[in-house]
Amino acid sequence: KIYSASTTAPVNIATLKYWGKRDTKLNLPTNSSISVTLSQDDLRTHTTASASESFTRDILWLNGTEESVTGARTTACLAELRALRKKLEDSNSSLPPLSSYKLHIVSENNFPTAAGLASSAAGFAALIRAIADLYELPQSEEELSRIARQGSGSACRSLYGGYVAWEMGNKEDGSDSRAVQIATEAQWPDMRAAILVVSAKKKETSSTTGMQTTAKTSPLFKYRVEVVVPERFKQMSKAIEKKDFEVFADLTMADSNQFHAVCLDSSPPVFYMNDVSRNVISLVEKLNSLAGRIVAAYTFDAGPNAVLYYLERDESVVLGLLKAALPDLEGWQKKPAVIASVPEG
Ligand code: DP6
Repeated sequence: KIYSASTTAPVNIATLKYWGKRDTKLNLPTNSSISVTLSQDDLRTHTTASASESFTRDILWLNGTEESVTGARTTACLAELRALRKKLEDSNSSLPPLSSYKLHIVSENNFPTAAGLASSAAGFAALIRAIADLYELPQSEEELSRIARQGSGSACRSLYGGYVAWEMGNKEDGSDSRAVQIATEAQWPDMRAAILVVSAKKKETSSTTGMQTTAKTSPLFKYRVEVVVPERFKQMSKAIEKKDFEVFADLTMADSNQFHAVCLDSSPPVFYMNDVSRNVISLVEKLNSLAGRIVAAYTFDAGPNAVLYYLERDESVVLGLLKAALPDLEGWQKKPAVIASVPEG
């Protein structure tokens, strides 16, 4: 007999960036971060987890290719989930002993992997949720987010829809470093996000490596994590609660720019944006200054692709301008991603 569960997890795009670890094993960050979860129509990972007595080893297929399950991160996630299942089995002897069975995991992204489109976030979130469903674990999102964090830091934020904070915590064992929801997508329903695929190529420096280089070598980094981010975290949380788009957008752009500044301040310097990315920045800055208000915000993760946030009423202005100015931009999302929630269970 084969036991299976399937699920999807969405991508999240940080508006206050996670960049730097204080513990590389547990994936504990040097600062708290905030993100917005995107619609599952556009960017998501679909994962099926199966367990059977007849399976001889754990196997993970990502987009049809077998991936290692022996990496420290995947191993840590699987061990935690199995331990939770084992506890359930110990308290209820009628449950099948799934914790002792090997797992087959099939995962598919509907977007380019590792092109700076937060694929590891959706990937690990879907992996954790699929296995938690398979094991019928009673753990809350918050508890699952602690496990997902160990797979990839940003993955802890993909367990929720809407607006999400990853609170860095300060305990050494990481038990207080987990994601919480700031607001549901329904609380700010006219927010929109558009993904501008500048390049679908694999990024040159992985986030993991890049952030270690920055944390070790950038003199600006200390100022960012100790002085700038704590204040920004409060201001951005408040802007989301009050639906103050101008403040939210202003902080989002400032934080993207500072994140890329500390990358440049690293040795050797780390570059993620390219000329097209910088064109997008100039265009949005011009649009905002001509309009005399903040119409749109840009943000860039560890890659050249842009994500724009704007309000529904300004959609034609924002997308019209970008299409006119950058007609060659690869892979325009047909439909702007509407912020969506994560389905239950
Ligand atoms: C720039 O979560 O991919 O997207 O924890 O090493 O897996 P690891 O890093 P990852 O880093 C994401 C960095 C970022 C900012 C963010 O999502 O907050």
